[in-house]
Amino acid sequence: MALIVEGLKKSYGSLKVLDGVTFSVDEGEFLCIIGESGCGKTTILKIMAGIEKADSGRIVFDSEGRIGFVFQDDRLLPWKTVYENVMFAVKATGLEVNTQAVREIIDLVGLSGFEDYYPKQLSGGMRQRVGIARALAVQPDLLLMDEPFASLDARTRERMQEELLRIVGGKTVVFVTHSIDEALFLADRIVIFSPRPARVVRTVEVGLPKPRDRASQEFAELRGELYRSFDLYGRK
Ligand SMILES: Nc1ncnc2c1ncn2[C@@H]1O[C@H](COP(=O)(O)OP(=O)(O)OP(=O)(O)O)[C@@H](O)[C@H]1O
Ligand SMILES: [Mg+2]
Repeated sequence: MALIVEGLKKSYGSLKVLDGVTFSVDEGEFLCIIGESGCGKTTILKIMAGIEKADSGRIVFDSEGRIGFVFQDDRLLPWKTVYENVMFAVKATGLEVNTQAVREIIDLVGLSGFEDYYPKQLSGGMRQRVGIARALAVQPDLLLMDEPFASLDARTRERMQEELLRIVGGKTVVFVTHSIDEALFLADRIVIFSPRPARVVRTVEVGLPKPRDRASQEFAELRGELYRSFDLYGRK
């Protein structure tokens, strides 16, 4: 699924959050949005998912399709097991129940053997994996991910980033993060938001082939450039 986000504006009461946000997402693209805390990143994902309404502007999708959402907090149902949490999303979407497909997705995110565990019996990284499995289980044409790895320790986070690229394959993904390094590792393109009210201040094409080497010279150069540009535009 490809889409165009055009001139989105949104206020909560007198608080202006989005001030004409415009960008596009290509079919199969992994797009990262970075911006500082409170600038409106979650708000824009919610509008894309139809959970919130914009005051003006529009989103044009090139086709009909399902959207998967990985929330900033994991939002698992504590009284349901891993398997039941994922199955719940399938049923809620009205998809035909395919127990084998659900098991395959749980396996894909590396949770085979933990199907019958409850969220409280899982580590933070494992809970995030359930959140990803749940979003994938609705067979999304567009995957929206809201800082899914923010609460993980640095090494686990890097491992999850590597796995994520394998898991999502060529899906269209919009991934929100605070982390320049995370965006550089994952994204085909990075959209930098201004502090609230959010506008797009810069879009960066990351030309490096994947999987990327975080220790490489090219990676370091792009990182330096992005930090400078984030300081110029992304922070006040
Ligand atoms: N339902 C709501 N009612 C009132 N204000 C809201 C609501 N949701 C968000 N806001 C406000 O909108 C602004 C943007 O919030 P949002 O959650 O989109 O930020 P964010 O960029 O995702 O931040 P973070 O990186 O900390 O998650 C914040 O100032 C927040 O207080
Ligand atoms: Mg947020």
